Amino acid sequence: MIKFHGFSKVKTAVFISGTGSNLKNLIKFSLSKKSPIEIVFVISSNSKAKGLDHAKNYGIRSKVFQSKNKKIDENKILKILNKKNVNLICLAGYMKILSKNFIMRFNGTILNIHPSLLPKYKGLNTHERAIQNKEKQSGCTVHFVNFKLDSGKIILQKKVKISKSDTPKKLSKKILKQEHKLYPKAIMKLFSNL
Ligand code: GRF
Repeated sequence: MIKFHGFSKVKTAVFISGTGSNLKNLIKFSLSKKSPIEIVFVISSNSKAKGLDHAKNYGIRSKVFQSKNKKIDENKILKILNKKNVNLICLAGYMKILSKNFIMRFNGTILNIHPSLLPKYKGLNTHERAIQNKEKQSGCTVHFVNFKLDSGKIILQKKVKISKSDTPKKLSKKILKQEHKLYPKAIMKLFSNL
């Protein structure tokens, strides 16, 4: 559980790289009265990320960091987060692996959503691998980010049945729908001491 002082919402940054359906969903959630978070900034590792439009549409400032020098980018990001008093980072389809230094220096909490039932299928191409291995179920996980990829403490998971006709694309759609419910639920769980 996260300790939270006062009654103002927790300033949150969302990191994206692509479509940003989770971002859009988190923005909508953040605007609800019951939400403990306020999204104050969006970071993208890709200037063509569709998700950047969602930030713009909701009047949330965003910035793209896609240089080849991760260290420089991360330092710039940390400066922004400090300036904006960000206390929570939600990774939502962010395709870069944060350095140990960044995770350590961000004096707060970093969450991630992953499209599998961790610890199964860490990394990429989760749906392809689950179908190939004839799994009967897969799902999604919201977890804390630690120094090892997709390995931090699990906050919440949701199972999704894999049917015989599922292709990776179909399964991804089914799971994404559940992701949109799970991420806000996991955030509510974290702040349930409010
Ligand atoms: C989601 O499946 C998420 O679990 C994974 O990347 C995808 C991002 O989708 N980490 P979107 O950009 O939020 O639509």
